[in-house]
Amino acid sequence: MDTLLQGAAERLRAAGVPTPRLDAECLLAAALGCNRAALYGRREVVPAEAASRFAALLGRRAAREPIAYLTGIREFWSLPLKVTPAVLVPRPETETLVEAVLDCLRASASGPLTVADVGTGSGAIAIALAVELREARGFAVDVSPGALAVAAENARRFRVDRRVTFLQGDWTAPLFAAGLAGQLDALVANPPYIPTAELAALDPEIVRFEPRLALDGGPDGLAFHRELAATAPRLLRPGGWLALEVGAGQAEAVRALLAAAPGLAVHPGVRDLAHRDRVCLVRRPEAAG
Ligand SMILES: C[S@@+](CC[C@H](N)C(=O)[O-])C[C@H]1O[C@@H](n2cnc3c(N)ncnc32)[C@H](O)[C@@H]1O
Repeated sequence: MDTLLQGAAERLRAAGVPTPRLDAECLLAAALGCNRAALYGRREVVPAEAASRFAALLGRRAAREPIAYLTGIREFWSLPLKVTPAVLVPRPETETLVEAVLDCLRASASGPLTVADVGTGSGAIAIALAVELREARGFAVDVSPGALAVAAENARRFRVDRRVTFLQGDWTAPLFAAGLAGQLDALVANPPYIPTAELAALDPEIVRFEPRLALDGGPDGLAFHRELAATAPRLLRPGGWLALEVGAGQAEAVRALLAAAPGLAVHPGVRDLAHRDRVCLVRRPEAAG
């Protein structure tokens, strides 16, 4: 088996895959239907059917298809989420956004909470929040029906489907249509934030395989942060939070546009594990008196 893995890793290295040995092991484990740890010490010959599944997966990985689309799973917030090419592969830095929202809500809100995740993709943020906030109801919006189908399946998988409502449409429009104006304790989003002109230079895994709809943030990458800054104040209840993920180097510009939006007070941002300014936080002030 080690010879098989070595050959596979060499093929992936030659194709420019950054972590060839790790990826070869993940794909062999997927082909065998076991986890990676079970590969160590395994002596049996790989059965022919598993070997041909492995060869097919290897070919796709050599063409730079992301591992998560090949295995169909990506762990986020310790939840093994289903992912398909209809959704962005959830990133670890988005866990910083979830953590920041939980910290804000736990410090400032009480009673049954209402939270919304717009641009939900796989449902990662909405589902992680619903798992943590057992009394909360959630709303998750996406314009892509394919993404919403994956998100709804993930919600069933983690048994939060009774508390999370999935809505199709353009950013916050479905939330207004659902009568949520002035109701939200938190509005959370990881919107597309890559400037259009920078898309072509991204790694092949991203630019060739992830949905462009999930990546393209318009000419300066901030088109959707602007849109959310404009509509969020009317959706938040007094004391409610707007939390937005931003790309590397975007935080200052996003804070400036949030500061210019009427009815929102800017709070200190939050850094991710790589110390990048990753989450912008603003709050609708509490009602006076
Ligand atoms: C960067 S991805 C984030 C996915 C997920 N929230 C995450 O963090 O992994 C952005 C998401 O916004 C969605 N989106 C793009 N344009 C939209 C629009 N006009 N209205 C609602 N959602 C949109 C995309 O389909 C995609 O799922």
